[in-house]
Amino acid sequence: MRIDILTVVPELLKSPLNHSIIQRAKDKGVVEIHIHNIRDFSEDKHNKVDDYAFSGGAGMVMRLEPVVKCIEHLSEQRKYDEIIFTTPDGDQYNQKTANNLSLKENIMILCGHYKGIDQRIRDHFISKEISIGDFVLTGGELAAAIITDSVVRLIPGAMSDETSALTDSFQDNLLSPPIYTRPAEFRGWRVPDILLSGDHKKIEKWQEEQAYLRTKKLRPDLLKD
Ligand code: ADE
Repeated sequence: MRIDILTVVPELLKSPLNHSIIQRAKDKGVVEIHIHNIRDFSEDKHNKVDDYAFSGGAGMVMRLEPVVKCIEHLSEQRKYDEIIFTTPDGDQYNQKTANNLSLKENIMILCGHYKGIDQRIRDHFISKEISIGDFVLTGGELAAAIITDSVVRLIPGAMSDETSALTDSFQDNLLSPPIYTRPAEFRGWRVPDILLSGDHKKIEKWQEEQAYLRTKKLRPDLLKD
């Protein structure tokens, strides 16, 4: 898979995508992640990429031309399955969307910034608008990093233990069961006996029950689906 991220603040994306599973997935060639600075596509002599809104009011708007130039430059080289815009008024992101995106070949993510972007970019280029929650970030970069992280870990070969992505919380609409490691007892707090029994069938059944009970208690809304 290839992910291209378009931003006016590339520095914000470097660290989150250069560690752990994501870095290993890049090293293994499972994913290519390219970060593009929209300013590089500005024809303004000061590389300006924002301007005042025609409607007036506070806040700057991301200009159309450099974004269009960058999108078209990339689209000439390959076909994109999705061109995503990160924005608080987009569709709420969840594991189902992550699963769907992980099956794509080429994804472009445009990070919003300033007060917003010229609506014509959304109307003519964007295939999917995603919000990571009902709150407003300074820009869409952290949202793009979250989307990229959650998608890349699902690509076959990204993780050494492939079943572990399948047992994540939210797969099957269930939260994960509680998990423990050594020591089996600490300050009198014991790991549930069943986990020390060595009976894998019973352990699996216990984990399924715990996942259900935890979901019922903490996120009953997930069970409605
Ligand atoms: N940009 C600013 N806030 C955002 C949010 N909640 N989700 C996605 N992109 C955003």
